[in-house]
Amino acid sequence: MFERPRGTNDWGPEDMARRRQVERAFVELAESFGFGEVSTPTFEPLELFTAKSGPGIVEELYAFKDRGGRDIALRPEFTGSILRFYLSDLRGLPKPVKLYSTGPVFRYEEPQKGRYREFYQLNAEIIGGSPLPSDAEVLALAVGTMRAIGLKQVRARIGHIGMLRTFLPFGPLDQAKLLHALDKRNFPALEAELARLGRPELAGPMRKVVGLTGDASILEEAREILGGAGKEAVGYLHELSEMLYHYGLPASDYRFDMGVVRGLDYYTGMVFEIDSPNLGAEKQVGGGGAYDLAQVFGGEPVPQTGFALGLDRLVMAAEAEGTLAPARPLDAYVIPIGDHMRGRAVDIVSTLRAAGLRADIDLVSRGPSKNLDYANAMHARYAVLVGEREIASGSVAVRDMKTGVQRGVALQTLVAALRGP
Ligand code: HAM
Repeated sequence: MFERPRGTNDWGPEDMARRRQVERAFVELAESFGFGEVSTPTFEPLELFTAKSGPGIVEELYAFKDRGGRDIALRPEFTGSILRFYLSDLRGLPKPVKLYSTGPVFRYEEPQKGRYREFYQLNAEIIGGSPLPSDAEVLALAVGTMRAIGLKQVRARIGHIGMLRTFLPFGPLDQAKLLHALDKRNFPALEAELARLGRPELAGPMRKVVGLTGDASILEEAREILGGAGKEAVGYLHELSEMLYHYGLPASDYRFDMGVVRGLDYYTGMVFEIDSPNLGAEKQVGGGGAYDLAQVFGGEPVPQTGFALGLDRLVMAAEAEGTLAPARPLDAYVIPIGDHMRGRAVDIVSTLRAAGLRADIDLVSRGPSKNLDYANAMHARYAVLVGEREIASGSVAVRDMKTGVQRGVALQTLVAALRGP
């Protein structure tokens, strides 16, 4: 027997019904926001991800050489691929370009509950919109998706990585190292690095700033600690907050958190993360923010912002809050009484299917009572018994599987009789 690889999942029909329900909620909302769907390959040239994504992702890549000796990596996220696609083919589209994607991504992580090596993301990007309205739009889509699946216990935290960058006036590599130390709250590493760079005095304020979390009043505290470096970002976050109000996101629905540093290196401005407190250690259901990959990939500067939600974690959060609708049941299970009635039974099941009902038919020539047991086990709403005598008079026997009540129904009225409430 084979075992599936570590950190991967098999999803059965009930799981998939829940996953599709959540995915559909995102897709419908994204389309209602005017985003268009794109699809990019599951594997890409390795450099696409090593160029800027940073050790948070690069150390976790599934990378290999293909038979042509090319360095390839399974995509660990969508953003790199979307920006590659934008630069090669979509640059000419009217701006802003609003794109969404869903699908599997791959990271070689230590698996645990909610953390997998293959997982599924719901991703959205806006390229070429003005920063403030676009940041507000992606935040509204991210939080709106969670509301659409009924989640109540979500916590969005909004920060600003541009502010931290302004306060750390070093080259990109040194800045990345410092930000990773901050992301991991590894203060000894932060201090050592700043000492090496000859600016040990920056460690104290940095440490204070990433500890700031709460309502808009913390923005003033950040401005005091960072001085000029914080001014622009603080003004920006105040304005963003006003805009979010108009999206139906009052300030009570999120908090500011200057400690949102993100594990990826490409962020440049507003950043956010969303947690579900029900999920234990792996509670982050989504994250994103404003970034710059277009220039890193050789394109012209253009504002970029987006986010990804982890579908696996979203479904777990929805299960914990009991918000998902039960899967739509089978409307009818059609039972030919004797193999000679199979042709007529197929006619009937085909009519039901064509009418948009979920209808199944016996495929193993069971007797009627075994077939009723099966219909029961499949949670069919009705069993339709196709017997010779009934058919001769233009009808079938319909059994309500919940009440056990059975009655004759004329074939012309069968679809109407089986239609759900
Ligand atoms: P990320 O924070 O790396 O961001 O991933 C987004 C979400 O994917 C996480 O919040 C989490 O729910 C889920 N996730 C991450 N790793 C795992 C895992 N090992 N198992 C299960 N779920 C996981 C990005 O990927 C950025 N590309 C988002 C973005 C788009 N930023 C701008 N545009």
